[in-house]
This record gives sequence, structure tokens and C-alpha cells, in this order.
Amino acid sequence: MLDPESLYSANANNMQKSVIRELLKLLTTPDIISFAGGLPAPETFPVEGLRAAADKVFRERAAEALQYGTTEGDKELKDQLIAFEARQGLRLSRDELLVISASQQALDIVCKVFLDPGDLVIAGRPTYLGEIQAVQSYRASILGIPFSGGDDGFDMAELRARFANSKRAGKKVKYLYVIPDFQNPTGICWSLAKRRELLEFSYENDLLVVEDAPYREIRFLGETLPSLYQLDQDGEARRNVIGFKTFSKILAPGTRMGWIVGPPEIIAKFVVAKQAMDLCSNVFTQAWIAEYLRTGAIYAQIEETRKLYRGKRNHMVACLEKHMPKRPDLRWTSPEGGLFLWITLPESIDTERMFARAIEKKVAYVIGSAFYFDEPQGNCMRLNFSYPSLEQIDLGVRRLADCVGEELGGSD
Ligand SMILES: Cc1ncc(COP(=O)(O)O)c(C=O)c1O
Repeated sequence: MLDPESLYSANANNMQKSVIRELLKLLTTPDIISFAGGLPAPETFPVEGLRAAADKVFRERAAEALQYGTTEGDKELKDQLIAFEARQGLRLSRDELLVISASQQALDIVCKVFLDPGDLVIAGRPTYLGEIQAVQSYRASILGIPFSGGDDGFDMAELRARFANSKRAGKKVKYLYVIPDFQNPTGICWSLAKRRELLEFSYENDLLVVEDAPYREIRFLGETLPSLYQLDQDGEARRNVIGFKTFSKILAPGTRMGWIVGPPEIIAKFVVAKQAMDLCSNVFTQAWIAEYLRTGAIYAQIEETRKLYRGKRNHMVACLEKHMPKRPDLRWTSPEGGLFLWITLPESIDTERMFARAIEKKVAYVIGSAFYFDEPQGNCMRLNFSYPSLEQIDLGVRRLADCVGEELGGSD
């Protein structure tokens, strides 16, 4: 009998399951209120607009849309993306763009192209789980940098100290991975000063910056800040930033469509890496989204999404304030955009241990430790506010507050 275990590559043996995807499988009971997923609200999907766009593609471009396409991506879609990004002040040409099968593919491509086993990637502590998985599958490691107390970006002194230590230890840092706009999982948005400082640090140390920005357009409070890509383009133009964007949170995640922006020579290398992965991203979907973008409806639709999420976020924060035990070591972030907030509980509470109690009370969250590459912090959790209804947010937060109260009652 074939024993596949004996054949797996070292890379495959280093792959880890996604805790979130495993948790989501547990949540089949219909009356569980889930703050665990990262799902957009389905009412934000522009079903009628997308239906009309699909009809048009079938009528006018069917032969092309059902055929193989180029790895680089559909020219019409690229032109629409250039116009979309221009509204945010970015100047792009087609060869600075690569159409991808949503941003998770970008995370894999960048690892494939830049990482050798043993290399390091600098990322937040905590950071997006999908990035941890991607880096692990190439037998590289993450050098985690804590966020500053002001929730405005990395603790820059820690960044400098940890980077210097890793250099002394003979480790090679290949890139910085950051989510400056409403980070997953914390919801933190980097200040302009910290964005500038990070870019300066990358220039000083000849580091590539990977800016993952799936939530950038989902700002519902405050002023939009320039992306790292933009700061570089409008400043020294050293061309060391690559940006990942996706239609998952601004249109519909089922489209599995996104784009990378970066210097043409890096994009060309990514094209070669992508050729071996999937030849090209779904050609019909590219034509379909291009058609939808051409109508211009996406801008009003994103505005509606922002409004909806602003209400849900405000409601979740208000419910936390109302129901959670009041103590200085129990706090949460109050994000100005995105889909998530992050709760830090008293140190005596382990959110992994508390999870069974939460499921009993029919509420779910993602345990904070899932977002750490190493030395996880056990007293945190991520809550999603985009998917549940206002009523579910209220009831779910009450249930969660009961869990926390019981944990504290048992341990204090
Ligand atoms: C920071 C970040 N990057 C990438 C992704 C992957 O998104 P997608 O592949 O749907 O574009 C997510 C999804 O939640 C995310 O939060």
C-alpha cells in the first residue's frame, strides 16, 4: 500500500491547517452566532449589476471570455483597474499590474519568488493567518513585531532591535509584510508618520515591502491615508513596494479576483511563477468584472458597504461597552474601517480554553493565538462585525460577556 506520508516534501510537511477554516467547520449549528468568519455581508453583493454585466459578456465577448487568457490578465480589466487606482492618486501602467486569483494567491506568489527555507519575513504580532500559512509552506519564518500602545502601527524601536538581532544571528530578512489599512486581525490603521517611518526603514535596509490592502476602501470613519505604494511613488520612488488588492471585500469574495501592483521587473517574475500555478486567472470573471467596473456602479456600491459596516461596527462597540465587565485590562480596538475588532482580555483568560464555553452559549470568535507565528498571546480574540445582523451582534456580545464574566468569576 502506498504510504503518502513517506513521500511528502519537506515543504508539505511544514504546512499547517488554517485554524479559522477548521473552526468554521464546527459552526454548523444554526443558532450559533458567529463572529468568527471574515465574511462580507451578502446584502453588499450587487447581484443585479453583476447579472447585467455577465449577460453583456455572454452577448458580446463569449468566445473570448470562455477561452484561455494571458497570465498577465485581461487588458480591459487592467485598464479598468488603472482607472480605479487613479481615483486614489496612483499612476500605473499595464506592466505594473498583474491580475490574480484574489490576494491569497499573491501571498503564495511572493513567497514562491522570494523565500528560501530559513529566510525571515517581518510581519505584525499578530498578523493575518493566511500569511503565516503561506510563509510556513516555504519553510521560512516570521519575525514578529508587536504593535505600539497607540494602535498606530509597529513599535518601531522593537522593529529596529529585532531586525538588528536577526542580522547578528546571520538570518536573511527578505521582506516586510504589512496591512496598513485596518489590519486583520486587529483592525489597526497605521498613522501617516508610521507609514513614512516604515518606508524609511525599508530604504535604509534595502528591504522589499509587501503591502496587503484588502480593506483599504472599507474606511467608514476618518480620512483616507496614502498607501505605502503611493508614498513611495510620490516621494523617493525607490520602487521597493508591492501592493496586493482584491475584489473580495469591495465586490464579492466568490469572484476570487484581485491584482498586484509593483515594478515591471518584479511583476514579470511573478507572471512566470503564476504560469506554473494556474496559467491564467478565470478569464470569464475578468471580463465580467471589467464590464461591471465600466458601469461605474462600484463607487456607490462601496459607499453603501461603508455605511452598512459603520453601523455594525458602532453597534458592536456600543454593545461591548454596555455588556463587557469594566476593567483596565479588558479592552478592544475601535477600528475606523475593515471587518474586525480585536479584544484583549485579562491575562488569566485563555481564549482557546474559553472557546468550549462560548460554543455552549452559542457564540463563536477566532482565538487570538491563531494569528501568531510563535509565542502566541493567549488572552485575545478577533470579532467580525460585517456578517452578523445588529440583533445578532447584541445577543452575541451579551453571550460573550457572560463567558468572560464566568471565566473571571472562576479565576479571580
Ligand atoms: C489581510 C488579508 N490578506 C489576504 C486575504 C485573502 O483574501 P482574498 O484571497 O479573498 O483576496 C485576506 C482575507 O480575509 C486578508 O484579511
